[in-house]
Amino acid sequence: MTTKTVFITGTSSGLGKLTAIRFAQMGWNVAATMRTPEKENELTAYDNIRIFKLDVTDVEQVRSAADQAIAAFGRIDVVVNNAGMGTYGPLELAREDDIDWQFAVNARGPINVIRRFLPHFRANNGGMFINISSFMGITTAVPLGSLYNMSKFALEGLTEGLYYELKPFNIELRLIEQGGSTGNNFRDSIVWNRDENIKDYDDMIANLKQVMEASADSGQLDDPQTIVDAIVAQATGESKQFRTVVGATGNSLMALRNAVPIEQYLEKMAEGFR
Ligand SMILES: NC(=O)c1ccc[n+]([C@@H]2O[C@H](COP(=O)([O-])OP(=O)(O)OC[C@H]3O[C@@H](n4cnc5c(N)ncnc54)[C@H](OP(=O)(O)O)[C@@H]3O)[C@@H](O)[C@H]2O)c1
Repeated sequence: MTTKTVFITGTSSGLGKLTAIRFAQMGWNVAATMRTPEKENELTAYDNIRIFKLDVTDVEQVRSAADQAIAAFGRIDVVVNNAGMGTYGPLELAREDDIDWQFAVNARGPINVIRRFLPHFRANNGGMFINISSFMGITTAVPLGSLYNMSKFALEGLTEGLYYELKPFNIELRLIEQGGSTGNNFRDSIVWNRDENIKDYDDMIANLKQVMEASADSGQLDDPQTIVDAIVAQATGESKQFRTVVGATGNSLMALRNAVPIEQYLEKMAEGFR
């Protein structure tokens, strides 16, 4: 059987790094991409992992990383759009560049990567894009997360919309909607709006920070290996599910969202923040 190859964005930490390691351990070739390859000292231990520099917002770097990966391995079978970040805070306090950057990384980034691999996948008569979304891409749950919601809802719309366009070419699309998980830098990378403040939002910000701390402390966060399992199941064909919601939090929110009218759902979620 020919060795398969996966191209992954955002492998410097968290889910991206664990996914790279899992595929390498399964015997796949891995094109692991990150913004700062010079700092990496774990993935370098694997013979079947090659590291390429990639900031997903930089179209020229996307071109270069994709070309280098294709040249190194001959063929890419699966692309995992994992790189992402979070901007939280009151919308009226967001800096203009925070707004643009949230969209640039979480939505425009995958667009850049997908566009670059489409000619390759069409030439191969197939391929798969696995887009790492969030349950925040299919539902809302907290105040002050509207920009993050916006970026992941955009990723969901992009992925679903592309389904029709890429089906004739045998190019498959998948979405993974994870909840909070352990072992990543995500909370540290959250950008809270920071320049000025409006007192009206102080309680809300404190409350949300507390909810995030509490869910981490009470063991409500998911084991990231279960998210890696979900990615692998799609890449290997074990599952053909278009959307996979991973973890207890995401699944219980989705169950509620599907069970009651949206007005009731929004009220219920807002209750937790009064
Ligand atoms: N952890 C959660 O609670 C959670 C929940 C739902 C969904 N997610 C999603 O899961 C994915 C992985 O996040 P994680 O949990 O593993 O958090 P993480 O440890 O913060 O990993 C995020 C990765 O994205 C990279 N990245 C950020 N901006 C980038 C850019 N412009 N170009 C290329 N790479 C960039 C980071 O690289 P640097 O080291 O260079 O910053 C890092 O490798 C993200 O899409 C995130 O939105 C996370």
